Amino acid sequence: MSDLGRFAVFMVAASFVFLAVLLSVLRKRATKPTPEILFVLTVVVVVCGTLFARYGHILFPPPWWIYYGIPALTTFLLRPLALKMSLRQISRYLPLAVLMAPAIHLFFSVFVGWHDYMPFPVNADVLKRGQDRFNVYCTPCHGRVGDGNGFIPSRGLKRPPSYHIERLRKAPLGYFFDVMTNGFGVMQDYSAQVAPQDRWAIVAYIRALQLSQNAPVADIPGGQRDPSESPEFRDVGTGATLPVAKPKSEESGENKEEHK
Ligand code: HEC
Repeated sequence: MSDLGRFAVFMVAASFVFLAVLLSVLRKRATKPTPEILFVLTVVVVVCGTLFARYGHILFPPPWWIYYGIPALTTFLLRPLALKMSLRQISRYLPLAVLMAPAIHLFFSVFVGWHDYMPFPVNADVLKRGQDRFNVYCTPCHGRVGDGNGFIPSRGLKRPPSYHIERLRKAPLGYFFDVMTNGFGVMQDYSAQVAPQDRWAIVAYIRALQLSQNAPVADIPGGQRDPSESPEFRDVGTGATLPVAKPKSEESGENKEEHK
């Protein structure tokens, strides 16, 4: 499912869980909250909160105390106040409110296999930034395409594994973030050199590298030739004479099968 699709599913799931928590906390109360107020609270807290978390920093980069502060205030203060919860109800509500988001993520991770999370949407700028940081900090060992053939391993340091092995292709995005943050085996951590936002940009770029090295022919848009296919020559030349490429008509016959 697309990233946006998952986001929508999370939002709907979170809305239901939040509603269920509210109803269970207030179940013993004589006067139940009206459906209207429950609806408004869910929209403000869950829908606006998740949209703010995902897109807020793109529209205007807020300082951290606003970024975390606003969702925390709406979750922990607005609801108890709007619903006039008693102290006992608040003491039951708060721990559940803290656990809800992690519980939802854990559920989808364990039962649906959705472990791939980027904390912000990836666009061309993010990938460019990731490429730039990757080429500065990671290529000396991991190589430009992440195959582990950087120049430092050729001087005797342990050769890192290629990012294109099965295990690392299946590793969740957070795993790469973790390796950069905490180091791995003999590899030092890069938390001091690379800011968290840039570490995520590198993660996105590594995923792009992985896709680029494992793309099936079917992923190439119709009518376009495989860009990494080498040209075919009738005569490769001697170095003193130039190579002579095969005419197009001769070539196209051989490759028709692949590019259906
Ligand atoms: C000085 C060399 C060096 C640099 C620079 C370096 N790494 Fe590594 N990396 C290694 C080595 C060596 C290993 C294997 C460590 C081991 O198995 O003990 C490794 C392993 C890894 C792994 C695989 C972990 C696994 O599960 O096998 C990832 C992912 C990784 N590095 C990411 C990065 C990223 C991202 C950067 C840039 C921010 C980076 N590395 C920079 C040397 C380096």
